[in-house]
Amino acid sequence: YPIKEPREQKWTFAGPFGYYDKQQLQRGLKVYAEVCSACHSMNLVPFRTLQDLGYSAAQVKTFAANYETQDGPNPQGEMYTRKALPSDHFPAPFANPEAAAAANNGAVPPDMSLLAKAREIERGFPRFVFDIFTQYQENGPDYIYSLLTGYEEPPAGFQLPPGSHYNPYFHAAPSFAMPKPLSDGQVTYDDGSPQTVDQYSKDVSSFLMWAAEPHMEDRKHMGFMVIIFLLIFTVLIYLTKRSIYARSE
Ligand code: HEM
Repeated sequence: YPIKEPREQKWTFAGPFGYYDKQQLQRGLKVYAEVCSACHSMNLVPFRTLQDLGYSAAQVKTFAANYETQDGPNPQGEMYTRKALPSDHFPAPFANPEAAAAANNGAVPPDMSLLAKAREIERGFPRFVFDIFTQYQENGPDYIYSLLTGYEEPPAGFQLPPGSHYNPYFHAAPSFAMPKPLSDGQVTYDDGSPQTVDQYSKDVSSFLMWAAEPHMEDRKHMGFMVIIFLLIFTVLIYLTKRSIYARSE
């Protein structure tokens, strides 16, 4: 029962001039908030960074207020819950990994903050070198997309362990503890995008790429400027070399 390679998709953030499509990130946030956040935490992402997605400070404040978060101790030494503020991080759905495992047949849903980058390191030597030159970093979103759209009926003769689901894209084994989270029409989009599993999966994968690397656009821009600088510098060095050695002839 083979494990399949992720299916490569087209992403706006691919390549040296890649950028995030804010409209898509907003849809992805909606999918995360309405579906994935029931099981997966995103501990490293503060609400205030949602302004990167094109929301105003007031909109972020209203969005954060939908969540409750733990705070304290207060002067009496007690912990208490309060409405989340933009400076808070997304609260986790479970108190600790043991509680998460108990609710999910013993499997712990991984934190999503860096999930889109977690798979990148597994590409091995030759492709890794190729990746440096092409700025290929889409393996993570390709993987998440493939997983979300990759649920299948188990092949005849496959013994599916209880509480698991057949998915040949899961990196460890084709039996996967996460139940199929998305179905057509589940999340309402207000920008007219198709409300399909395929679209939801692309959007949430892009959103998770942003969560894992919010400053990607700046990094690529800086990389481009550095290359331009190095090209100019090479020409200068070459001309300098010619003028210095010209004297010794
Ligand atoms: C694992 C994404 C919703 C429970 C995973 C993994 C990904 C993922 C990419 C695999 C990580 C790896 O390779 O190790 C998503 C997305 C969701 C979503 C994008 C929303 C669209 C849910 C929901 C639940 C859930 C709603 C709970 C009902 C789990 C569990 C695992 C897992 C238990 C661990 C599976 C194992 O180790 O076998 N999720 N998930 N997920 N997810 Fe989700």
